[in-house]
Amino acid sequence: MPVTTSDCPPLPLPQLPEWAAFVAAVKAAPIRVDDLRLVTATGLQLDLSGQSQSPALHACTEALLNTRHFDSLRKQLLAGKIANATENRAAWHTALREPAAIAEVAAERQRMNEFIRRADSERRWRNIVHIGIGGSDWGVRLAVSAFGYAGTWRNVRFVANIDGHAIAGGLAGLDPRDTLIVLASKSFTTAETLQNGQRAVEWLSAAGIEDPYKQVVAITAKPDVAQAWGVPEAHVFKLWDWVGGRFSVWSSVSLTTALAVGSDVVAGMLAGAAAMDTHFAQAPVAENAPIQMAVAGIINRSVLGYGSLNIAPYDFRLANLVPYIQQLEMESLGKSTGLDGNPVGVPTGPAVWGMPGTDAQHTFFQWLHQGSDGAPVDFIITQEADHGWSEHHKSLLANCLAQREALLKGKTYEAALAECLAEGMPQEKAQWLARHRIHPGGRPSNLIVLPKLTPYTLGALLALYEHKVFVQGVIWGINPFDQWGVEYGKVLAKGIVKELSGTQDSAQSHHDASTAHWVQVFARSLGQ
Ligand code: F6P
Repeated sequence: MPVTTSDCPPLPLPQLPEWAAFVAAVKAAPIRVDDLRLVTATGLQLDLSGQSQSPALHACTEALLNTRHFDSLRKQLLAGKIANATENRAAWHTALREPAAIAEVAAERQRMNEFIRRADSERRWRNIVHIGIGGSDWGVRLAVSAFGYAGTWRNVRFVANIDGHAIAGGLAGLDPRDTLIVLASKSFTTAETLQNGQRAVEWLSAAGIEDPYKQVVAITAKPDVAQAWGVPEAHVFKLWDWVGGRFSVWSSVSLTTALAVGSDVVAGMLAGAAAMDTHFAQAPVAENAPIQMAVAGIINRSVLGYGSLNIAPYDFRLANLVPYIQQLEMESLGKSTGLDGNPVGVPTGPAVWGMPGTDAQHTFFQWLHQGSDGAPVDFIITQEADHGWSEHHKSLLANCLAQREALLKGKTYEAALAECLAEGMPQEKAQWLARHRIHPGGRPSNLIVLPKLTPYTLGALLALYEHKVFVQGVIWGINPFDQWGVEYGKVLAKGIVKELSGTQDSAQSHHDASTAHWVQVFARSLGQ
């Protein structure tokens, strides 16, 4: 039994007889529109009826998971053993959902709650500027927009981008005396966050605030670096090296969430995620929601060849779920080298994109319905709304179901022709127009139903996707917890900044012709 994935690197999938059997089973198992297939997890319902299914496919899935040592790798992940082989560390975000398990985590949470309690009781910090990017941004944005959609007594702004317009807009119009700057950066080296943080400190100073750093909080795995940067020790909240950036919403990064929408929201999300962890650890494969979602994704990507996955939350409050899942999936699974160092041999992580329904219907659903490629869709909906307009919610539910049904069932030429004739068209025109009204159908989808949007159900939903990503990493034989691909561009950018500043000779950089041209043009326009 392997202790880590690096002890026994998985073979590329095409070399495994279990993979060949799995592929054959998928090809013999089309989507069956007459079969309902539901999996329930912590109150969330996952409807997999729109995915390939058959008893043979279930048997092949079990065989594939066994040959990948899935059971022991899952145990190791949840026990905080090394799961991120290329960076030699654990990926133990689940421990943050069980604060009682680790004294240090519980103590840090207590410190954070105390900070919030004091700020609330003093009615301090009417304005919060949360500065962070990627995993230090999306989860907090998501939670604040999900539960603060109707407004909060604190005015929360998010600044992520290096574009100076972002921080300019983020600070504009705020009263510096009642503004708290929250710097969230696991590494405390991210250029965007540090530069924007510097601008914010200057803005406080320019307003006559004597010690601007007293109005700055840092959340980081590098507390010493944050203190050296100027943040007072009492304002530095820790996260740990074993928490990946895109999994850090469960850490003190949620300080802003708590200040904006309450500590109980953070606690609820943690409880929902913890419940999903238990489901993931214990439910049998056929009833295990993350495993079944992962397998459906592998079928769609690696066997059926779909290049992307569309996320369609039919809940306006979940608009930020799209970029959240986009980072989670694409940074985790956008890899084509296996843990053994060889090419994976099959297509891996799809491009993830989306928009809330019903806006999405009026933007790109045409492409999903009749485009030549199509994409699997994750429809996500809340059964009960929190507003009182039942007409709106009825329409929302109906639209979600209708779009999914159209993708699933499609419309044949014969049905389209009958429709055209019934509208009174002459035969020839009806035959022509009917071809434009065909829907191919058989386009895969999941439907995830949340009883209501609560912190608990949102936490469970996010953990569902996290575990799905882990299972896919195991099957594809890749490490979902590193992100080496992002690093190269960061290094190149540092060099180009020096060239644009005139402190490095661009001739030494061996740029391609186009980059060299634009470095010169931009250097000139910057006055270098
Ligand atoms: O994009 C690379 C990345 O490292 C992400 O994984 C991370 O969420 C983001 O940058 C921000 O990193 P940090 O929290 O260290 O500032």
